[in-house]
Amino acid sequence: MSPYQLTRTLPEDATDAALRADVLHGLTRTPKSLPPKWFYDARGSELFEEITTLDEYYPTRAEREILLARAPEIAAATGARTLVELGSGSSEKTRHLLDELPVPHAYVPVDVSESALVGAAESLLVERPGLQVHALIADFTKELELPDTPGPRLVAFLGGTIGNLLPDERADFLASVRAMLVPGDALLLGTDLVKDESVLVRAYDDASGVTAAFNKNVLAVVDRELGADFDPADFDHVALWNSDQRWIEMRLRARRALTVKIRELDLVVAFEAGEEMRTEVSAKFTEDSVRTELAGAGMELAHWWTDEAERFALSLATAV
Ligand code: SAH
Ligand code: AVI
Repeated sequence: MSPYQLTRTLPEDATDAALRADVLHGLTRTPKSLPPKWFYDARGSELFEEITTLDEYYPTRAEREILLARAPEIAAATGARTLVELGSGSSEKTRHLLDELPVPHAYVPVDVSESALVGAAESLLVERPGLQVHALIADFTKELELPDTPGPRLVAFLGGTIGNLLPDERADFLASVRAMLVPGDALLLGTDLVKDESVLVRAYDDASGVTAAFNKNVLAVVDRELGADFDPADFDHVALWNSDQRWIEMRLRARRALTVKIRELDLVVAFEAGEEMRTEVSAKFTEDSVRTELAGAGMELAHWWTDEAERFALSLATAV
């Protein structure tokens, strides 16, 4: 028996149906787009981990700096017995938080990437054999059925992944997090902060091309899962700052006029030369914008912590 529980809250064909619906919707409208959650097959999760080690990609290092400095305060303020982590990926930084929680405690990592969840649970259990791990393969934008573990619960959403949701999705997501919290529970939210455009663009267009490979990986996912014939070499990686929306946008730009067949959807999609398809937004925040969005969902900002260079923030929030 596995030393941890792995629960798939969605049947495998639900993932399939969701990908079909997203691809059909996103590629049959102008401008074309694909949602970022489809980056994260096993290869995409590996590429993301590689991004976190790049000189240009500061968010992971900045958030780790805050966690290392503040984990004891977070543990004391929340007394959490269960840490639920949404979009947990490799759970690398989370270890600093787990180190400080009262013992025993349970850890509930939630991710769409089965390979990331299994890798994280296995390596955590080598280090901490007594830890209760209930891993959930689930979409955090859908209703979650959490396991029955001791309270209080701390719901962590790290890495700035909230910025990958569009404003309406963010509001719905925060409302659903609020609905998960009972008195005594809290939310720990990581947000990347608005800063100099050149620093932001470099973080999403690194010199060694790892982010470009991550971006193009979504094409490989659609090829494999839906029998499409995208050739990643036909597209260029684009990262730009949208100052009105205060987000980085990643796009894929067709290098020539081309058509793509998507067998499983019985669909042929035409791209004009130079046409761009949006694959991700990564919104950047300020203390005011975080406070306002939390308040809009019925939560109150209790603590705001940044790294020394004020590049990234962790917020601790409770239900009003
Ligand atoms: N929290 C980690 C990983 C961030 S990468 C860190 O800070 O380094 C984003 C993670 O969120 C990936 O592991 C990806 O698989 C997951 N993810 C993205 N969209 C998701 C969704 N809708 N539901 C669940 N997991 C999602
Ligand atoms: C997971 N998420 C917070 C990353 C980000 O910075 O928006 C994903 C990423 N996209 C390109 N590089 C990293």
